[in-house]
Amino acid sequence: MCGIVGYTGSDTAAPLLLEALRRLEYRGYDSAGIAALAGDHLGLVRAVGKLDNLAARLAEQPLAGTCGIGHTRWATHGGVTEANAHPHSADGRIAVVHNGIIENYAALRAELEAAGANFASQTDSEVLAHLFAAGFAKGLGPLAVLQGVLARIEGAWALAAVSLDAPGVIMIARNASPLAVGLADGFSLIASDASAMAQNCGQVLYLKDDDYGLVTPAGPQIYDRNNQPANREALRISASPVMVDKAGYRHFMEKEIHEQPDSVAHTLAAMTGPDGQLTAGLQTAQLKAVSGLVLLAAGTSHYAALIGKYWIERLAGLPVAVELASEYHYRQPVAGPFSHALVISQSGESLDTLMAMRHAAAMGLQTLGLVNVPDSTIAREAEAVLPTRAGPEIGVASTKAFTAQLTVLFAVALALGRTHGRLEKQQAGQLHEAVLTMPGAIGRALSCVPQIQQIAKQLVLSHSVLFLGRDLLYPLALEGALKLKEISYLHAEGFAAGEMKHGPIALIEPGLPVIGLVSQDALQAKTISNLREAEARGADLYLISCGAAGEQVDFARQIVEMPACNPLLAPLLLAIPAQILAWQAALEKGTDVDQPRNLAKSVTVE
Ligand code: M6R
Repeated sequence: MCGIVGYTGSDTAAPLLLEALRRLEYRGYDSAGIAALAGDHLGLVRAVGKLDNLAARLAEQPLAGTCGIGHTRWATHGGVTEANAHPHSADGRIAVVHNGIIENYAALRAELEAAGANFASQTDSEVLAHLFAAGFAKGLGPLAVLQGVLARIEGAWALAAVSLDAPGVIMIARNASPLAVGLADGFSLIASDASAMAQNCGQVLYLKDDDYGLVTPAGPQIYDRNNQPANREALRISASPVMVDKAGYRHFMEKEIHEQPDSVAHTLAAMTGPDGQLTAGLQTAQLKAVSGLVLLAAGTSHYAALIGKYWIERLAGLPVAVELASEYHYRQPVAGPFSHALVISQSGESLDTLMAMRHAAAMGLQTLGLVNVPDSTIAREAEAVLPTRAGPEIGVASTKAFTAQLTVLFAVALALGRTHGRLEKQQAGQLHEAVLTMPGAIGRALSCVPQIQQIAKQLVLSHSVLFLGRDLLYPLALEGALKLKEISYLHAEGFAAGEMKHGPIALIEPGLPVIGLVSQDALQAKTISNLREAEARGADLYLISCGAAGEQVDFARQIVEMPACNPLLAPLLLAIPAQILAWQAALEKGTDVDQPRNLAKSVTVE
């Protein structure tokens, strides 16, 4: 999603800003730009497409100046054009970058145009540039101008602005969209994502909602919503340079798929208490206090939540509701039998999920954040954090974060089952042992790449693909279809196999690829029967199974057989071939594996 960076110090800003933008590249964007103050000149360079295009422009037209801002834009208001790219300027003296949405931009634009302003873009963000320009035109100082702008706008923002009328100063503000200031000697950085500053600053401070302030080379001066000076705590940055290293792999997604034996093992270690039991990092009293859970998430994290629901209900006997974060807070949900909201997010920054968490908290639910980015907004706002230890996930398609989320959810289910007396000690011990075998099983599962490559070659010849599974493998069917759509742009749908006869079976036609997901669970025979119904109508069946479940099937074109595992853990294992299938299909089609079109890694708008 959109990224903001800024620098003020004594070095030339533009190369540093470009480098910082590169560290945000993984978030997804479609245009980029940089502005810098050089004496009495404001330089501005923008380009559509990848940062290499911006770098080429900067090589032709280098930007001088030691104070500047940069932006990667993911289009919301207005198409992908250079004019719509940030930074925006109004009068050649001010440059502004913005993440979020200015909800009252239409009224502001009409008012500014009536007063003589000329707009150059279709964006909501450009109104900010004109508001800043109007403030400086009145002879106000940067703080007063910023306060004046903030008093006029509604919506969500992280914003940064520089002006020839305030040399060396970056004006910043935040409301619902993250923004951080990097602390260093002799210069200051700002960024929407601390990882952009990790190379240069050891510590950052995060702005809270409605914070604003001025940043100079000496550091920031922040004010809160009551216009009082605010001391925000400086935190160590957890992101590391490893983020930009593909470690010899062609793509981050490929690297991240292959890291899963380690990421699941590390996450299991983090879920293990001092007595060697899986506690999910929660105290017994905290676990006993749970009477029911609402799981809030989006996208792949939502599919992890669906699997978590099956586990928690089955192992702990507690009521669980899974909610799409983007729907939850708008539909007046009731707190019901739920004591806790478990909020699942890789990035910890998805705005839908953050707003859903705040809604749950306002309803009186205790909030638990299951996040992969430890210093994210959700991690900071949740009452307790259950960390996944997947390490930075850069590929837009979530892979290792998904399996790490499943690992935490299984630990939560087991810990709740034990403390609520649903699981006998021996049962809990067996399940613990079973999950400990998963890093090894996932490692062996990775050897299916050549076989899946052959299946992918067939899949990309089709116009559509169906994924079918039952029970715990139904949400995985949804996730397998999402992965394929996201990075190969092949149309795909996931269905509960038992639902096919209620409608979707009409989609089956000769040659339609169907991916069947099967484990040795209680529903194995029923799933196989549903797959046979599809095959009997002409579908080309490809089976992904574990523990010899595929031996019962003699009508599949190919069977990808995974190692044996406890059927309860099958989604964790079968996720691997599903991810590999999407990756291989993307390679066959030549799409951008790590930064698929139209998508962003961290979705910070509604
Ligand atoms: O960072 P989050 O887990 O909150 O992100 C939620 C979704 O945007 C994310 O899972 C998205 O669906 C991924 N691109 C899936 O691969």
